[in-house]
Amino acid sequence: MDLKSVSGIINRGGTILRTVRCPEFKKKSYRKIAMNQIKYHKLDGLVVIGGNGSLHAARTIVNESNTPVIMVPATIDNDVPLTDFTIGFDTAVNTAQDCIDKIRDTAASHERVFIVEVMGREHGFIALEVGLTSGAEIILIPEVKFTIRKLCEKLKAGLDRGKLSSIVVMAEGAGDSREMEKQIKRKMKIDVRVTVLGHIQRGGSPTALSRKYACKLGAAAVELLIKGERNKMVGIKDDKVVNFDIEEVIKHKKTIDLSDYKLAEILAI
Ligand code: F6P
Repeated sequence: MDLKSVSGIINRGGTILRTVRCPEFKKKSYRKIAMNQIKYHKLDGLVVIGGNGSLHAARTIVNESNTPVIMVPATIDNDVPLTDFTIGFDTAVNTAQDCIDKIRDTAASHERVFIVEVMGREHGFIALEVGLTSGAEIILIPEVKFTIRKLCEKLKAGLDRGKLSSIVVMAEGAGDSREMEKQIKRKMKIDVRVTVLGHIQRGGSPTALSRKYACKLGAAAVELLIKGERNKMVGIKDDKVVNFDIEEVIKHKKTIDLSDYKLAEILAI
């Protein structure tokens, strides 16, 4: 990368680096190839951009080489500990919100229940955020246990209050949306549809907020390298840029804000 190759990309989604998950990195023999590349290209330092998988890889590089490493949290999942936000999360939420607004038109006109599956294999950060901001009637996330019976009771309570349609936002890790569709249909004899939003949440032009975090965190990572730091993750806390030792970040787990979940439940009544 040089000044030219990184100009004119602020409005682009995804990654120009074409980096992807690399399961082989778990094998020492493969990691050796990566470490040799670092030496071969005489890299002064490495900025690792990614989610939890990248975070663990960053720690491995710190432990197995002398290369200074700074981690920049960037994943739509927002599940990296010790940072309020990861780059891309806000974009994914806004994309999902836009889709749900559109789906709601059919839900309302056809008096249907829509189960909208959003990304989040391990966690419900996207589901909770977009469930709240799109006024979903029900939010299903891996962190909060539910049963089909309870789900049907909630839908029935909505019908009894005169709700003609409902949106159920479900994180992909919360269960099988198709199976859920079948069971609700069977139990309640109502019209249910599933929409899986999938990878459209992972692309597209970033929102202003995602761009702002990318600018700030990218700059902070470079500043830390210049200062001689070698093992840090930058992040956002209370709208300020902060940094932590990578080892410290790995010790923590990011948890869902259950007060947001309760608020969404109250607002859905
Ligand atoms: O790690 C981010 C993520 O978007 C998850 O939310 C999702 O489950 C997964 O990636 C999808 O990955 P793949 O494209 O490999 O199916």
